[in-house]
Amino acid sequence: MKTVIANWKSNPNTTREAEKLAGAVEKSAAANNKTKVVVAPPFVYLPTVGQRLRRAVLGAQNVYWNEGGAYTGEVNLAQLKNLGVKSVIIGHSERREYFKETDEQINRKVLSALRFGLEAILCVGNKEKMANPAGFVNKQLMADLKGLSAKDGPLKLVVAYEPIWAIGTGDADDPLSAAQVSAKIKEQVQKINGASKVRVLYGGSVNGVNAGAFLERDEIDGVLVGGSSLSAKEFEKIIKTANNFG
Ligand code: PGA
Repeated sequence: MKTVIANWKSNPNTTREAEKLAGAVEKSAAANNKTKVVVAPPFVYLPTVGQRLRRAVLGAQNVYWNEGGAYTGEVNLAQLKNLGVKSVIIGHSERREYFKETDEQINRKVLSALRFGLEAILCVGNKEKMANPAGFVNKQLMADLKGLSAKDGPLKLVVAYEPIWAIGTGDADDPLSAAQVSAKIKEQVQKINGASKVRVLYGGSVNGVNAGAFLERDEIDGVLVGGSSLSAKEFEKIIKTANNFG
């Protein structure tokens, strides 16, 4: 089963629009039941979007690792879980770059989310095009997954390989190259945790036209979609495509 994740980022601007989009995505998810669909709206829309989803899974775009207390402006693990959130995107390149999230913070978020029973979707990726992106990504994995062990229970970890140069630019990665990096990520995570293989998604300018070229690869378990997830029609195309490989 392939996974398709909608990362709405800081969109839309009204609850009404969020409701409408969530309703449309739920319809597509229900009609394509060989695909796992996750919707990650901004925090403020989690209750509304959660009410619209049945088959599709509710996700969040960030989390704070403590379970509660005096941490102004943060949203914690228990709050997300109690709203029905099952998956959390962690370490997105926009959070690393614009909000200066460090590997140390990302590591704490990943481990605490997993230990709290949430699925952690860890984003990694190189800034510029390079000859050996897997080498760069391996270093990120070592830092972001420090302390991860097979004892952490059934591993609910997903890694999203998102080359930063491909995000929001319309210049998606070459599917073969993305598949090769994904295979390396699987090997590397197995080395780090000593056991489980991890699911790896590709992200960066995925749309209804190019999604199939990524999803048809065995090494790629799904796609993480930004811009194209804001159009119900375009996102439906991606879900339908994924369903063909389910
Ligand atoms: P994009 O974003 O699909 O708009 O390139 C992907 C992401 O940042 O997760």
